[in-house]
Amino acid sequence: MNKNIFITLSFNKKIDNIQLFINNFKNINYNKENIYLYIISPFYKIYNNFINYKKIFYYEKFSDIILDQSIALFKKYNCDYYYYIDSSVIINNNNILTVLNSEKFQILSPVIYLENSDITNLMITGNIKKKCNNLNNNVNNFDLLNNIVVLNKKIFEYVSSPYIENIFHNINNRNITYNFICDENNNLALIKESNFINFNYDILDNEIYNMDDINSWEDKYLHDEFKNFLNGGNISINEPIPFLFEFPLFNERFCKELITIMEQKNKWSDGGHNDKRLNTGYENVPTVDTHFNQIGFEKQWNKIVFKYIAKIAEKGFVGSHTSSINMSFVVKYTPSGQSNLKPHHDSSLYSAMVALNERGKDFEGGGTRFLRYDYKHLTQKPGYCVIFPGRLTHYHEGLETTKGTRYILVSFIE
Ligand SMILES: [Fe+2]
Repeated sequence: MNKNIFITLSFNKKIDNIQLFINNFKNINYNKENIYLYIISPFYKIYNNFINYKKIFYYEKFSDIILDQSIALFKKYNCDYYYYIDSSVIINNNNILTVLNSEKFQILSPVIYLENSDITNLMITGNIKKKCNNLNNNVNNFDLLNNIVVLNKKIFEYVSSPYIENIFHNINNRNITYNFICDENNNLALIKESNFINFNYDILDNEIYNMDDINSWEDKYLHDEFKNFLNGGNISINEPIPFLFEFPLFNERFCKELITIMEQKNKWSDGGHNDKRLNTGYENVPTVDTHFNQIGFEKQWNKIVFKYIAKIAEKGFVGSHTSSINMSFVVKYTPSGQSNLKPHHDSSLYSAMVALNERGKDFEGGGTRFLRYDYKHLTQKPGYCVIFPGRLTHYHEGLETTKGTRYILVSFIE
């Protein structure tokens, strides 16, 4: 017989794809008649998505009291298991409830991973730096409970209700390190299931993705001079060779966060000609790179191009019109990986290239040489953007990076 399960779904943060979360949740293999659903959703009106459950509780405000009440109801309805799942968790195993219902343990804190990385929900506050590989399957204390927790009702035989509630308050205040010491019977467990729940931490919490409040985004990520330009002020545009325009666009924070995301995601291509990310499957001028659609940054980049870069392009290339974007990516040049790029044209009306880190500090060498003008563009500072015509006049090559790692953002614009 199915056990009764009480599930608190907490949408206390905006997430990238709410419908995906809901669909994954609804696809869980478990009799809905045995599930009490407790939904806290301050941002989304999602009540109508959930039907046929034993009971549904729905709150539009998040608070500690609401959370405490979920524990009280769990006890009141005498359910066997209590799940707390927040919207950072990507449920990609339909059997989650069967797998995690555990007679053996009274509290489980599943480890969830950021895809293809060592980042887990136990590391994110930075207070502990353990990698999951170093943790035992069974530990009798650990520092953090985050994002998903499972309780067996027997836990109340050992610890009092306020103690449990305290755990959940700490989940909510994620900056607090919680030292949970279990009783002598080793009632606390940590499980490792890397293929079973993934974790979308960087995207969800990274403000660079959230352009809903555009003023606040601009404030955080644009170069001061560009902000001034948007407010009707001047901007210095440098033109060292004909039709190559350089201007300050992003600040240091933008550059650093983008590099961090790229490295966390670690989806770098191998720099070979065969590239299954492309429709044709073939790249004539391959680089070691990550496309923006691989990190879910396409929508945002689209906005950036039309809102900011196109404004400068229309000033420089008088009479031109920005209509679409072919491809956008970050290239990684290293002496041991890809160090340079042979002369080529870009497949664009014009290309935008943003330096993300600094020569002399982060790398040596690098830069772009424009063959027709025999001009080496070496002065570009992080956050500065250059635009130049793509497919006809500005044949160019990537000069050799001799030390360190050079990152550039490239976008082919039509
Ligand atoms: Fe190029």
